This record gives sequence, structure tokens and C-alpha cells, in this order.
Amino acid sequence: MHIVEFQEPVQIEFRNITKLYGAVAAVNDLSLAVRRGEFLTILGPSGSGKTTTLMLLAGFVAPSKGDILIGGKSVAAVPSYRRDQGIVFQSYALFPHLTVRRNLEFPLEMRGMKPAERIKRVERILERVHLNDFGDRMPSQLSGGQQQRVALARALIADPPILLLDEPLGALDRSLREQMQVELKVLHKEFAITTVCVTHDQDEALTLSDRIVVMRDGRIEQIDAPEMLYDRPATRFVAKFLGEANILENPGFEIESDMVQPSGTVAMLRPERICVAPPASPKRADSHQRQSVIGTVADMIYAGPLRKYHVRVGSTPFVVREHVAAGQPVFRAGDEVRLEWLRSDVRFVSA
Ligand SMILES: Nc1ncnc2c1ncn2[C@@H]1O[C@H](COP(=O)(O)OP(=O)(O)OP(=O)(O)O)[C@@H](O)[C@H]1O
Ligand SMILES: [Mg+2]
Repeated sequence: MHIVEFQEPVQIEFRNITKLYGAVAAVNDLSLAVRRGEFLTILGPSGSGKTTTLMLLAGFVAPSKGDILIGGKSVAAVPSYRRDQGIVFQSYALFPHLTVRRNLEFPLEMRGMKPAERIKRVERILERVHLNDFGDRMPSQLSGGQQQRVALARALIADPPILLLDEPLGALDRSLREQMQVELKVLHKEFAITTVCVTHDQDEALTLSDRIVVMRDGRIEQIDAPEMLYDRPATRFVAKFLGEANILENPGFEIESDMVQPSGTVAMLRPERICVAPPASPKRADSHQRQSVIGTVADMIYAGPLRKYHVRVGSTPFVVREHVAAGQPVFRAGDEVRLEWLRSDVRFVSA
């Protein structure tokens, strides 16, 4: 993965930004620095303040408190059309009465660029997003994915230093979405453009981002690289929001760990870190590094290459996920099983 160097200068800075709507703080004392060239994703549940954060940066919404700096300068007095940002919203917002080519020319025209230069730019970007043959079509004559590509092309055509995306792939079906994620990543790298992207799709966030900000009730719950966020969630909220988590709160047995459990935390285990085996199967070579418990299968869900088990250990429910492999035993509801995991895979998250 392309990780932005820590040395890159800060390009965007939120300083103690609060946005009040009446008594509701849509964004609450948020401070955040985005480095040049970084792909930063804002992830969080509905109503957590993601869009508001992006609108503040775009200049469509003014903060109640705090300041936003771009390139080290406050943009408090800079209107949105002067902020030099490419923006893509969930609804593509292409002009329906203009051809693709005219849609792309529009932002260049607004900047007073000469026709010959505009045409050159449009042809170049059409090629970049693989739409050379579509320049003369109207938006309504394009598929959702093609319209999305035009919207991206339009955001990028004037070479802005910053790209803002709000659920850019939200209207696309799953396979197209995955394809566009790859394209978006390639474009981001090629244009070396600082990108702030809002999504509530965790896979998208994990795939695209250098860092992810998890928001909750207008505040930052955690900010980290995708791997860190998934593997080392700081809080129960992050653990459960990003992927599935077994939260072992009073599980009825002692949790073994190589670490001392910090106070105010609960133990957490990812479903794919747990193995399920027949209760009397021989011990593994590394069993001294593992904890094992006996439980009963509540159900098994078959999902193509994965099997998901719900297992009860006493009154504690576990979710276990395993990749289907040849020769692996399959368990059914009512079967007694042994669950085991490496002690080093136990995480402690703040309750
Ligand atoms: N113009 C507005 N007037 C009043 N309240 C607003 C306004 N815009 C947003 N809010 C409130 O601010 C909070 C954050 O909204 P925001 O749109 O930023 O959430 P979000 O994280 O983008 O959610 P979603 O995933 O549903 O798009 C919500 O409680 C919302 O109701
Ligand atoms: Mg939103």
C-alpha cells in the first residue's frame, strides 16, 4: 500500500472545529491534520458528522468555532469557489443537458481557460478515465459507473491540489464499486492529490485509505492506518464498527493474555483469530501459546469461501469465521467444539 511519508507537510488542518445546529453539535471540537498526498477517509455511522466535516472543508458550511487552515493559511474568509478543490458527491450532479465533453469543459471555462487548451485537457482526462468514446453522449446515456467516472474526471480536470469525495461510489452495485475503488486508488496515486473521502462502507475505507478517521457523535473516536485500526482498535465502538468483534465481557472464564489488562478495558477477539476443532482433537505444537475453551455450536452459516459459526461457551456467544479448506471438519448446531486462539491475539479495548 501507498503510505504517505510522515515527513510530507500538513496541507489541511482543522483546529478545534465545532459546528452547531441549534443545540446539536454536528461536529464537536474536532482537530485533524491531513498531509500532502494523503488519502484520508472519514468513516462513521449515520449522523456522526462526516458530511458536515467535509462541507466545512469545502466552505459550504461555516464553523461555529475553530479554524481551518489549508497550506498553513486560514480559509475562514475564503469562499468555497476559491478553495481550489475538486468535489464529488454521492449523486453525480452532472449537468443533464450537457454532453460529457461539455460537462468536463465547464469548470475550465469558469476559470477562463482558452478553448484550445480546454479541448486538450478534456481529451486527456477522458482517456485517463477510459471514456474516450463517450464524450458526445448525454449523462442519461451512460451507466452509473460511467457517470461516476465523468464526475471524478470533472473534479480532477482543473488539477486541484485537494479532492473531496462524499460517498463517491455509494450509488454503484458491489462489483462496479470494487472496480471503481481500484480506479480511484490509481487516480489518487497518479494525480498525487490530497484526498478526503467520506464513506460508511468499511471495506471501501480499508481498501483506499492511508489513514481512517472514525467519527462518533461529531468527535474523532480514533485515527490510524487501516491495519492498525482493524488490528488495534482503541475502543469497543471502533472494534465493532470496523469488522466483527467478540467482546468478552465477564465471559465466565479467565482470559489469558501476555499483557496485563489495563483497567477500564474489555477483551476483544476477531472472529478469524479463533480456530474451531473437535473437542478431543490432538493439541497443536504451539498449544502453550494458546487458550482453549469448550463450547456448543448454535449455528453454522455457509458463505462461499467462508464458514461462520455461532458458538456458545457457557452463556458467552462467540462468532468464529474460518476459510473453507479441504479436509476440514464441518460442525452443525448442537455439536460440541473446542475454540482456541493465540494469547497474543487478545486485544483490550476501552469499554
Ligand atoms: N443543515 C442542518 N441543520 C440541522 N442539523 C443538521 C444539518 N446538517 C446536519 N445536521 C445534523 O448534524 C448531524 C451530523 O450530520 P451529517 O450529515 O454530518 O452526518 P453524516 O455522518 O454525514 O451521516 P450520513 O452517514 O447519514 O450521511 C446529524 O445529527 C444531522 O441531523
Ligand atoms: Mg453524510
